[in-house]
Amino acid sequence: MVCLGNICRSPLAEGILRSKVFSHKTFIDSAGTGGYHIGAKPDKRSISVASVHGIDITNQQARKFIVKDFDNFDLIYVMDQSNYRDVIELARNEEDKAKVSLILNEVFPGEDLDVPDPYYGGEFGFKNVYNMLDEACDVISKKINSNE
Ligand code: 4NP
Repeated sequence: MVCLGNICRSPLAEGILRSKVFSHKTFIDSAGTGGYHIGAKPDKRSISVASVHGIDITNQQARKFIVKDFDNFDLIYVMDQSNYRDVIELARNEEDKAKVSLILNEVFPGEDLDVPDPYYGGEFGFKNVYNMLDEACDVISKKINSNE
């Protein structure tokens, strides 16, 4: 799960997907394309909306997306088109590129919709992001769980 800062959207996506995937063989992680918040905990508004739904994301620490992530992960979900461009720029070949997709395309195939960056908004933005990610992670987890 990849966003810009790895403190608002992708930590939520990581926490939500973890809560829905049963297999311990599936490794789920998140990262940011920017390095501004490396080592930081998720934003307190993300922690709060997750905890309302019984999900604890307080142990996460922001990190930057690195090229090696293309080797370590089969699927790379980005939150918006800017994240998409930044990750694709790091891809070494077509195989790397094929792993990257906009997360909301799982719910609205081919529409290329963004999960809006809630950083400068209020609480509502975080609830909205939570609901979008919850829906997307439902689809993703069903695919993963049915492959086990
Ligand atoms: P995120 O949100 O990409 O969902 O983690 C942001 C967090 C921080 C910043 C931008 C977006 N920032 O500019 O510091």
